[in-house]
Amino acid sequence: MCGIIARIGEGDAITKLVTGLENLEYRGYDSAGVAVQNGSGISVYKRSGQISELKDAIVGSVPKGNVGIGHTRWSTHGPPTDENAHPHTSETENVAVVHNGIIENYTELKERLESDGHEFTSDTDTEVIPHLFEYYLQDASSIEDAFRKTIDDLEGSYAVAALVDGVHAIYAARQGSPLILGLDNDEYYLASDVPAFLDHTDRVVYFEDGDIAVLEPNGVTMTDLEGNMVTRDVERIDWDPEDAGKGGYEHYMLKEINTQPNALTNTIEGRVEDSEVILEDFPEGTFEDVDDVQFVACGTSYHAALYGQQLLNQTGIRAQAFRASEYVDSATGSITENTLVIAVTQSGETADTLGALRGAKERGARTVTVTNVMGSTAAREADDALFIRAGPEIGVAATKTFSSQAVMLSLLSLRLAEDIETVNAPDDQAELLRELQKLPEHVQTVLDSTTAKRIASRYTGSEAFFFIGRGLNNAVAKEGALKFKEITYEHAEGFASGELKHGPLALVTPDTPVFALFNGDKDKKTLQNAEEAQARGAPIVSVAHADHPAEKISDAFLEIPDTHPMWSGLLANVQLQLVSYYAAKNLGRPIDKPRNLAKSVTVE
Ligand code: F6R
Repeated sequence: MCGIIARIGEGDAITKLVTGLENLEYRGYDSAGVAVQNGSGISVYKRSGQISELKDAIVGSVPKGNVGIGHTRWSTHGPPTDENAHPHTSETENVAVVHNGIIENYTELKERLESDGHEFTSDTDTEVIPHLFEYYLQDASSIEDAFRKTIDDLEGSYAVAALVDGVHAIYAARQGSPLILGLDNDEYYLASDVPAFLDHTDRVVYFEDGDIAVLEPNGVTMTDLEGNMVTRDVERIDWDPEDAGKGGYEHYMLKEINTQPNALTNTIEGRVEDSEVILEDFPEGTFEDVDDVQFVACGTSYHAALYGQQLLNQTGIRAQAFRASEYVDSATGSITENTLVIAVTQSGETADTLGALRGAKERGARTVTVTNVMGSTAAREADDALFIRAGPEIGVAATKTFSSQAVMLSLLSLRLAEDIETVNAPDDQAELLRELQKLPEHVQTVLDSTTAKRIASRYTGSEAFFFIGRGLNNAVAKEGALKFKEITYEHAEGFASGELKHGPLALVTPDTPVFALFNGDKDKKTLQNAEEAQARGAPIVSVAHADHPAEKISDAFLEIPDTHPMWSGLLANVQLQLVSYYAAKNLGRPIDKPRNLAKSVTVE
């Protein structure tokens, strides 16, 4: 949800800024801009639309200068126009600012500045920041002091980077929005996420809320709001720069679907030994006091949480998955000191999920986050973090991280069941863990043999698409529908199979394919539900293992390898990811950057 980049060092900044923005484009693609300090003023270039528009704008007049800032926008205040694009500048254009987040008191600040003679040229909340900075520069004791006063006036969430004309430095601050410092030998970067500068360095420092930094050619100073020096650890990122590229695939999404065997191997590695689950930070007995589990998550992560809920309920542990945006108002009252709250979030920065996590902490719950991003806010704020290790996910539609989250939650569920005396670990744990270790191989089989492309072509153009499944496959059906609508813009819904006849069946026609998911366990009822839809003319696309009875009644069949029922939904999900991908491709959609969406949603 907006991406920012800044860079200071030897040589021109512009290429590194633009490449950084391209690597952050998944965070927003409504408009983009850069500002470069060039010795005779600050050159600002900004354009509505994608980064390619910005690149076209600077061809022929490439700005010179070795310090600069950049931004890619997901609109919150004001439409995606050139005027509303960042960087925003002050009255005299001697200050330029990029910002990710929301300034909640911007109306009040704007009125104050307007009464002081400032004129605004955009509809954004951000524009108050350069105006304020300029205002304080008039009589502050130092530039840093003026910046600190500016930051002190802001309410809301922000990651900010600012330039002042003629000053060879970048001023930065963080409150509630991610900001990471990248340290290379002779240059420094700031960005909302590591892929922005991963080509140059893997040494990073995560800003904490309230941190203010000044980046100069020969060093970085970090202080708190009061001006006291703060020291933050330098960490090394174990992502490969290649992980952040398309690796020869047409889209990031296709790459991320195809690299799931590797992502899953990383998720599982070192966490299973014979018939036991080993989670480094959770030795035996860690969970013995847990009475109930509450998951909080959004979107795809919520579907992974539903998977986790189902698994825990199956083992006899009370668990419920909540949509994070609904949690604080509706559920925190049920927290006790023995409630474990698990925040599931790929990015670790989703505002709704962080709100729920904080609400749970305030009520005294023990918290764990299951996330993909080290150093993310969720990882730092939860009592414990479990990393899914799926590598960077750039496509806006989450794919590999759903699979890795579901596996991580399965392992955590088994670990909980081992600790809680009142419940039993599943009888067939050894078998299901053996099958888990084969999951990457099974996913590879799906990828090598899928007929999803053909099926997508057959049904592209249908009126609507329904996905049904029971138990664990209910979560997968919902995820299949979310993926489909997100990237094809077609109407798609996922239902618990048994619910179809309680209402949604009214929507079923010969022009609404129904994807029915079978996991090799208690499938009879789902088969019956599929036949009920078929009797109303709907084409049935079954996803099941070979020779499954569903094959006989289906109009089309997507085969998955035979495995434990606990994992078969994850194989079905890969088939559905591919169907969505090819349907979106047939429709000519911008698959990696679906309209109106952003990968990391940092507003509530
Ligand atoms: C769907 C998708 C979103 C995210 C949701 C939560 O493909 O990507 O629905 O799953 O915005 O994001 P995280 O997992 O980062 O909290």
